[in-house]
Amino acid sequence: MKEIKIESTLYVFDNVNELPNEALSLMQKAIEARGKAYAPYSKFYVGAALLLDNGQVITGNNQENASYPSGLCAERTAIYYAGSQFPDSKIIRMAISAGSKRNQTTKPIPPCGACRQAIAEYEIKQESPIEIYFMGETGAVAKSNSLANLLPLVFDKSVL
Ligand code: THU
Repeated sequence: MKEIKIESTLYVFDNVNELPNEALSLMQKAIEARGKAYAPYSKFYVGAALLLDNGQVITGNNQENASYPSGLCAERTAIYYAGSQFPDSKIIRMAISAGSKRNQTTKPIPPCGACRQAIAEYEIKQESPIEIYFMGETGAVAKSNSLANLLPLVFDKSVL
């Protein structure tokens, strides 16, 4: 038996104003997208913005449904749109902001497991890391240099 340790590195900015300009402008788009989320059931509003290597910014937000599992998270709404419209473009960076109508989210909200798996697919496909910035409504912003840091032991095409 041997022990395997898995390490992951994140960077934390105290607030949105500490972000480098290129990340700040993308986070502002994510915040704007969050404001248009359709989340009447959870009241949890999430916005995501992606910067592509062709300069395009794609945004998405969570879309809920009366049949709850039919809804989709903000990150996948955005990344599937990018994948469908710009299949040959690489994703440079993603910004995510989440806020609740029930209580103020003041700590960084990471993408859920299913979204991490979806983002991983595109990172592996494009063979270059996707930077991920994520935050709540206010407060600290976390940054991962690659989706891989958020999903150790990824299930990928190599096993198929
Ligand atoms: N949600 C996202 O949009 N992204 C995530 O990564 C986590 C959860 C949405 C799904 C649902 O509409 C609401 O937040 C509550 O789970």
